[in-house]
Amino acid sequence: MMAVLWLLILSSWARLADASCSGMVDVPQRYSNRELIEEGDRLRDDVDFMTRLRQGRLKRLREELRRHNVTAAVIFDPINIRYAVDFRNSVLFYVRNPLQYLVVPTNESAKCLLFAGSFGSDALLEAFNGSLEFHPAIGATMASAGPRENEKIDDWVNQMDEILSPLAETSPFGKRIAVERFQERATRGLRDRGFDLIDAQIPIEYARSLKTEEEIVAIRHGIKVVEEGVHRLRDALSQPEANVTENEVWSILHSTVIACDGEYAETRLMNSGPKTNPWMQESGTRRINIGETVQLDTDVVGPFGYYVDFSRTFTAGYGLPGFQATEKQKKHYKLAMEMVKHNMELLIPGASFEHVTFNAWPIPEEFQAHKYHVQTHGTGMSGEYPWIFHPSDWASYGYDGIVKEGMTLSVEAFIGSDQGGEGVKFEQHGVITKDGFQLLSTNVPPEPYLLEESPQLCSA
Ligand SMILES: *[C@@H]1O[C@H](CO)[C@@H](O)[C@H](O)[C@H]1NC(C)=O
Ligand SMILES: *[C@@H]1O[C@H](CO)[C@@H](O)[C@H](O)[C@H]1NC(C)=O
Ligand SMILES: *[C@@H]1O[C@H](CO)[C@@H](O)[C@H](O)[C@H]1NC(C)=O
Ligand SMILES: *[C@@H]1O[C@H](CO)[C@@H](O)[C@H](O)[C@H]1NC(C)=O
Repeated sequence: MMAVLWLLILSSWARLADASCSGMVDVPQRYSNRELIEEGDRLRDDVDFMTRLRQGRLKRLREELRRHNVTAAVIFDPINIRYAVDFRNSVLFYVRNPLQYLVVPTNESAKCLLFAGSFGSDALLEAFNGSLEFHPAIGATMASAGPRENEKIDDWVNQMDEILSPLAETSPFGKRIAVERFQERATRGLRDRGFDLIDAQIPIEYARSLKTEEEIVAIRHGIKVVEEGVHRLRDALSQPEANVTENEVWSILHSTVIACDGEYAETRLMNSGPKTNPWMQESGTRRINIGETVQLDTDVVGPFGYYVDFSRTFTAGYGLPGFQATEKQKKHYKLAMEMVKHNMELLIPGASFEHVTFNAWPIPEEFQAHKYHVQTHGTGMSGEYPWIFHPSDWASYGYDGIVKEGMTLSVEAFIGSDQGGEGVKFEQHGVITKDGFQLLSTNVPPEPYLLEESPQLCSA
């Protein structure tokens, strides 16, 4: 009996190996929290590695500031602050409350200044070898300053003027600086002092779009953690508990992410049954029934602040004796796999976004209306530049650019009929190498029970 079972399992994995193609594993590796935590700690404790990771990103950022002809950038987005100087501090709080900011002078010989309520770690100071200074921040928001908000904003403008004007004097770019979203009065205040402002997100997104070697190491670690979380979530769907809710299953991924020093899931995109089409419905208290589709998009800001973004679709109860997925579930799954495989192959260095757009897998009419809004997008410390759209949206949203070595991208598929019924989400996360798209999200292979009727999927 066991031998027969093993043969069955092995033969379905063998077919899977063919069907999954493009670098996916045959048999997934599983990890304990301990193994994942220790792997992360080995990187964290490697001073040399962490210094190269931090300095490499700051160097990228300064290159882009120089290319955009600015003397300095003033940054508020906590994810951009983490990118620039690896300062990790309650991201979601500071996204809403701009009480922490960073000045990055383009000139390497000038220090970066981090203005924060709490002072960063000695480790951070060491990594920047005296080229980063901490200062108390001015709280210029309604919540922190109440009716004194304008006074505090004026103080902030004075503070920036004192820092930026001397930099401007020795810089070839003068008073041209990059600033990120902040209070309207602050922006006006800087303009009144003669500063010429550009949106800091432009140089920052370009910088972030090309990853250093060390970033890829950190990203690989994050993917390993999130894949293990997805495996544990998937295990709970094998023979699901009666009345288990979407949220109860979704929380398994969160638990793994937090245990392994990740940050949070940026969205709550896991859904079941009738909620699987159209896509974008959030995880809730809905009970998951046997035989229903369950799909998720990880959207996790994981360890080291790196975003891990791949999607998978399962069928609840896949591990029950005599279980079979429906023909429609398998048909939609096959289409989603084909779409991602086709679009991954377009991503070679030097390809233009326009070329990638117009050579995309042709989405059948039935699935056009509910398609995912982009074909492919950048994935780094969040979802980021570039977004590559579908041919039908090129005229309204499309923009051109070049696929480059070092970009990390997620390739998307959502297959859901405009007539209703369940959908399938599938998405892969990879890195552009000189040979093309190298898959990074390899360890949660496609579901064998959803591929059964399509052994030729990838060799066709
Ligand atoms: C920066 O300035 C140079 C020289 O004036 C110009 O050619 C270039 O287009 C500018 N770059 C940007 C991004 O504005
Ligand atoms: C750190 O700064 C000191 C003093 O400026 C310098 O001698 C040393 O080479 C620097 N170390 C690194 C790793 O940059
Ligand atoms: C960089 O800063 C140094 C020291 O203030 C200054 O001498 C130099 O001219 C600056 N270079 C640029 C390109 O801003
Ligand atoms: C599941 O929910 C149904 C409907 O509320 C209830 O009748 C049933 O007892 C529940 N089963 C379990 C095992 O909780």
